[in-house]
Amino acid sequence: MSPESNLDADPPGHRKRRLGVLISGRGSNLQALIDATCEGRLDASIAVVISNVEDAGGLERARAAGIEALCVSHRGWGSRDEYDAALARELKARDVGLVCLAGFMRRIGAPLLDAFPNAILNIHPSLLPAFPGTDAQRLAVEYGVKVSGVTVHLVNADLDAGPIIVQRSVPVLDTDTAETLAARILLEEHRAYPEAVQLVLDGGWNLEGRRLVRNRV
Ligand code: GRF
Repeated sequence: MSPESNLDADPPGHRKRRLGVLISGRGSNLQALIDATCEGRLDASIAVVISNVEDAGGLERARAAGIEALCVSHRGWGSRDEYDAALARELKARDVGLVCLAGFMRRIGAPLLDAFPNAILNIHPSLLPAFPGTDAQRLAVEYGVKVSGVTVHLVNADLDAGPIIVQRSVPVLDTDTAETLAARILLEEHRAYPEAVQLVLDGGWNLEGRRLVRNRV
């Protein structure tokens, strides 16, 4: 396990394998993580799912799977930091060791980053560093790239810019719209996210600058 990761100190099989998933919407990547844990492809459990949006479809997916699901709205806090600190408290209260952003439409600030150093993952529907931010699939089609894909990365203070864990490419077809490309990428997202989470949990990697490098055996 990386000396830069806070997962080192955890007793095997306990805290680091307790995931907290943050969502804002339909939660299809959350579902992929749920399915992977149920099918034994991901050796972890989902301790809690938190949405900043009350009617996010992913909350129902979590409840249907018997996972605690709650809304912590981003509204009504004095500052972004206060909201992030509240999220960190909810996650820590459930002994979460690794946080997975799965369509969580909020920037992550210092209180959450400091609470989970190198232990927050995000999934993004492009081959970063191309097309960070929102609407990545539409921007890829409009730019005319011939290949796009998915990136799972560690979260740092910069938007969609942390060390890359897993990338998978998909072709961009001449006939593609933003919607058809998004659907093709999404299939790959659902494979890539459980794989990336498992890789992080298994350890045997280090950060060299911004490069996540597997240890040689
Ligand atoms: C996905 O495309 C993900 O890459 C992006 O937001 C979308 C969330 O979709 N960050 P879902 O809620 O997981 O279905």
